[in-house]
Order: sequence, then structure tokens, then C-alpha cells
Amino acid sequence: MSSAPRTILVTSALPYANGSIHLGHMLEYIQTDIWVRFQKQSGHHCVYVCADDAHGTAIMLRAEAEGVTPETLIANVKAEHQADFADFQIGFDHYSSTHSTANQYYAELIYTRVRDAGGIAVRAIEQLYDPEKGLFLADRYVKGGCPRCHTEDQYGDNCEACGATYQAAELIGPKSTLSGATPILKAATHLFFELAQHTDFLRDWTRSGRLQPEVANKLAEWIDGGLKSWDISRDAPYFGFEVPDHPGVYFYVWLDAPIGYLAAYKEWCDANGVDFDAVWNPNSEAEVYHFIGKDIVNFHCLFWPAMLHQAGFRTPTGVHVHGFVTVDGRKMSKSRGTFIKARTYLDALDPEYLRYYFATKLSSRVEDIDLSLEDFVQKVNSDLVGKLVNIASRTSGFITKHFDSTLADHDANPGLIRSIRQAAPGIQAAYDSREYARAMRDIMALADDVNAWIAEVAPWTAAKNPETLDQVQAICTTALQAFRLLTLYLQPVLPQLAKRVEAFLNGVPLTYASLDVDLFGHRIEPFKALLTRIEMDQVQQMIQPEATSQSESLASAPSSPEHDVEPLAQTCTIDDFNKIDLRVVTIVDAKAVIGADKLLELTLDLGDHTRTVFSGIKAAYDPATLIGRQTVMIANLAPRTMKFGISEGMVLAAGPGGSDIYLLSPDPGANAGQRIR
Ligand code: MSP
Ligand code: ZN
Repeated sequence: MSSAPRTILVTSALPYANGSIHLGHMLEYIQTDIWVRFQKQSGHHCVYVCADDAHGTAIMLRAEAEGVTPETLIANVKAEHQADFADFQIGFDHYSSTHSTANQYYAELIYTRVRDAGGIAVRAIEQLYDPEKGLFLADRYVKGGCPRCHTEDQYGDNCEACGATYQAAELIGPKSTLSGATPILKAATHLFFELAQHTDFLRDWTRSGRLQPEVANKLAEWIDGGLKSWDISRDAPYFGFEVPDHPGVYFYVWLDAPIGYLAAYKEWCDANGVDFDAVWNPNSEAEVYHFIGKDIVNFHCLFWPAMLHQAGFRTPTGVHVHGFVTVDGRKMSKSRGTFIKARTYLDALDPEYLRYYFATKLSSRVEDIDLSLEDFVQKVNSDLVGKLVNIASRTSGFITKHFDSTLADHDANPGLIRSIRQAAPGIQAAYDSREYARAMRDIMALADDVNAWIAEVAPWTAAKNPETLDQVQAICTTALQAFRLLTLYLQPVLPQLAKRVEAFLNGVPLTYASLDVDLFGHRIEPFKALLTRIEMDQVQQMIQPEATSQSESLASAPSSPEHDVEPLAQTCTIDDFNKIDLRVVTIVDAKAVIGADKLLELTLDLGDHTRTVFSGIKAAYDPATLIGRQTVMIANLAPRTMKFGISEGMVLAAGPGGSDIYLLSPDPGANAGQRIR
């Protein structure tokens, strides 16, 4: 591998500022961060920038619903995102927002240059408009009957029942999902980026070795099918940048989002006295890579390079596309508790476990990645604790106890150390080509060799005999040298563990420049636990966030008088109310749940069957007193998997929480199973 330092700019996709970071997102930031750390560890000049994607209708509407300005909303969300990323050890050199002056500058510059080169068309269009909200409606804000199969309640672009695609205006009985009003067709003037002008350029660009083959093939299909103009403007009200020569018209969020990569890098350059143009001029030798998910390929591999090209900037060296995260083989789902937020994970587990697990699964292909929870626990425990850390934990004690914490002046097995060092080029090549799974396999195979050798030479036996005691020092020296090299190889994946190992071995930096450094005669610190095993319990805790918050909101809400009367919730329609299936039930059994201080396990009779429900009412009720009484449940609440079993609904209660909770009861005469309306 060439050792001349490269200049590399790396980005991850900019997360939307209208929601929390979840483990699906984290796959991307972890994949990118490992790559960046590896490049830095190898001595390259690598800069990693990202930002929140802060514009668009969704953000405007959410701010309105929360009664705050969009600026306040995006500032709050950005702070939350940055805390999540920092705690997952994502080492951005700079994290910005697309709602910045630098981004406005580059959005206007690129638009103006593209327009002046003849790349923009202005066209009159007609679009559905919500007369009550005073808003043009994107397809996802319109619902109605499918024009083909007549299934009701379908979104404005395609039918979930028959798969038909259509224009929102073709829906039968369309309704705005924002106000319920019937939308009208209204004329507007929109700006279009004339993508078809760039057909030849894109055909070459997508075939120039910058993309994974499966991505290039998909793009070839789109290009061959004919490239359509891209609508880059939206009408007021919109949260974004106004188009300079069209007052009241705004850049569509996806126009200025990738430009956010340039703007974030410009801010980093200004703060660090680096020349922006050295990377972004069309003849630059520097490398630029975008890491993205498979859902946003068209934006990054068609619109983005075409606009950069027309505006006189260089285009990316590569776009690295990954697949989607599934949990236990299925799409992440809120009702199964598998839509796991980054923060929920962090509250339960060490981030480096997930970094390692994703690394064992990642390759350079666009494949979905399954987070299998059992496999996750098993792999982390067996590889990181059982193989890696075990090397140090079973050998360092002898050095501390018998040799004044000092390593020997030679190896007991120089061949073993040599073979580990010889693996470096292969491991580096695997990281560099994003074949992390291969790198992890190679590293763990070396750990297996080391453990097998330690078992064979059994320092614990040699230590019992004064005549063989000095062999023990050399054996443990070799083991700890091996441990250092394996940790060096894992440093991009496990940066915190690597720091702890550096401290334990007394500050030899874990970079490729120090690969050949020996620790002979070196003093080490006393061994402290470097990583602990995961218990399945911790994982269970993580996959029941909604159940937990439900019982917590019942059991731990503040009970001061001013909280007794909550403000009324948003109005709901009778149709909304009819979606909730409330039933009279008889509590036929109630018992405490071992290991849960707030929960009771209730068995509820609905007339023709029984249900199990876990409820956070333990502080308020002695379970024996509940048996036989009637109450009210939500019978069609999606079942939720909790640590203790599946909760199949929810009973209704009033009160602030703790012991101050009151179950509802129907008057005498109601029968179990009757619906409440
Ligand atoms: N804001 C746009 C990106 C603009 S880039 C100029 C966006 N944001 S996002 O928050 O929806 O997604 C951010 C990144 O996370 C995207 O690359 C997306 O593919 C990735 N993922 C979102 N959900 C994911 C999974 N379930 N699994 C893997 N990656 C996922 O798109
Ligand atoms: Zn249909």
C-alpha cells in the first residue's frame, strides 16, 4: 500500500433535523467513522464533515405543531444529534447545519452558475393546494381513493393495495392530511434542473470506477430510460433559502442538502486556515467520498455530480452506498420495539459493541445488514471479551506479580509476532476497500492463534515452578505484544478500548507508524477490566422503549397539584376515536412481576378470550384486591414485547402516578368484552 499521505474529504449523508437518530442511521455513521479513523491512523490527511439537513416542509410543520420557530426546532434537534454522535464515538472534524450562511452562499452560487450555463428551465405547473392551510401539498400530504382499484386512504403517489402509481390530482375524493380539506388545483411557476443535458456526462461518470458495480448498473437503467427534469423549487410558505431571482420561491430541500457538504467543509477550512479550492477545483488531486444509504443514490449519483460539473466544481471520487439495517431479519418497527433510537441503545449498552458488530457485517456491497440480537450478544462476548481481552487478562497478572510490572527483553515466540505484523497489509487493504467483515475475521483468526499458543505454553503452570518462572515473563511479553498489535488493528472500530489499552501499556500510540515498535523492558500498568460481557437483559431493556415509557409515565409523573389537570390534547375526529377499540374486561388474575418494581401482570377476560397486560400500577394496588373487578382496556393496541413477556394491550387509569393512580370501572351491568363507545 502506498505510503505517500493522501488528502481525503469524507462525508456521511446529512440526517434530517425532524427526528431522532436511530440504529439504522448509525450504521452509516459507524461505517464512515471507521473508514476515516483508519485513514488517519495510516497517516493520511483525512477530514470528516457532516451537518443536519434542516430545511423542508416537514420541519416547518413540526415546528408549527410544537409552537416553536423552525430555527429553535433545528437548533434543539442538532444538539440532540451531536450528543448521540459524540457518544457513539463518531469523530466528525466539523458538524454544521444546512441552514447556514455558508450554505446559502454556495446554494446561490451553484444555482446562478447552472442557470447562466443554461441548465435551468422555468415552467408553469399545477399542483394540489390546501386552501385551509394555504400550502401546496407534497404527495405524502394527500390521501384519497386509488384511481385504479378504488382502495380508500391511499397516498398521493402510489397505491399500497394494487401498486398503481399516479398523480395526486387523480385520487378519488382527495383530502389534505394536514387539515382534512379538499385540495384544489392551483397554478405555480417552478424551476427545473435540466438533467437530460447531462446524459453523456453521467453515462461516463457513472462508469468511471467511482461506484459499486451494482449501483452503476442501476443508474445505467435509469439513464437509458431517459433522464427527466428535476423540480428544484417550492412555493412559500417553506423553510429554506429563497431563490435569488424569484421572490417567494424557495430551493427544494434536496437542492441545498448536498451543497451542505461544501459549506460544512468551507467552515472547517476557515476555522483551520486551509484552502477550500485545493479540494474543490476541477483539477484537484485530493479525494472526496460520500457515504450514503441505498435510498438516496439518485440524488448523489445523478443530480449532484451533474450540478457540480455544470457549476465548475470537481465531482466526488467515489460514492459509497450501503444497505439498510434490519433487526432480527425484519424491517425496524416501532410496534415491535425494534425501531431503536441511538439514545435508547446508549442508555443500555456500550457503543463499541455495536461498532464492532456492524464491522463484522459490513462489506463494500449494497447489502442489508441484519442486527440479530442474539448473534450480537454472542459475537461481542465471544470475540471481544473471550478472544481479544482474554489475551491480556490471562497474562498481565504474572508480569505485575512476579516481574515488577516489567516486560522481558525478548519474545518467547518471535514467529507469532512476525506473523501478526505480516497480516498488516491485508488488514489495511480490507479497511481501505470497506471490507470490514474480512478485516474482523482476519484479526479474530490471529487472536485465535495467540490464545491457542498461550494455552499450549500454559504460563500458569510454568509460574508454579521457580525454575521455569523466567520463561513466564517472555511468554506474557509475547502475549501482550500480540494484544497490542491486535488492538492497533481494531483501533478504527474500537477507539475507546484502544485508548484504554494505550494507557494500560503506558502510552505507545496505536498507529501504523508504530507497528514495528516492541515493548521489551517496558513497564505496564495493573490490568483493569477493559470490556465487560453483554447480558441478554441489557438488550431486552433496549427493545421495549415504548413499554417502558408508558409504565414510567403512569408511575413517575410529577404529582404536584399543578400537574393534576393536564392541558387537553389535540382534537381528534370521530374516525380517529373509532380506531381505538375500548373493551370492558374482568381482571381474572393479578400478580407482581419478579424483577420489575413498577409492574403488575394482569390477566384480563374479554368474554371469549383472555389477554396478558403488564401495567405500571404496582405502587397503587395490592394485586389480590384487583382480582374479580372490572375495568377498561385498549384491546387493539399493538402488542409490545417486554423483558417479561408480551403485553397485549393496556388498561386505562387516571392520576399523576406512583401510588396516585385510579383504574377506571364501568357501572354494574356491563359485561366483559363489551365495546365502549
Ligand atoms: N437528509 C437526507 C440526506 C441528505 S444528504 C445530502 C436523508 N436523511 S435521513 O435522515 O433520512 O437519512 C440519513 C442517512 O441514513 C441516509 O444515508 C439513509 O440512507 C441512512 N439510513 C436511514 N435509515 C436507515 C436504515 N434503516 N438502515 C441504514 N441506513 C439508513 O436521507
Ligand atoms: Zn390501488
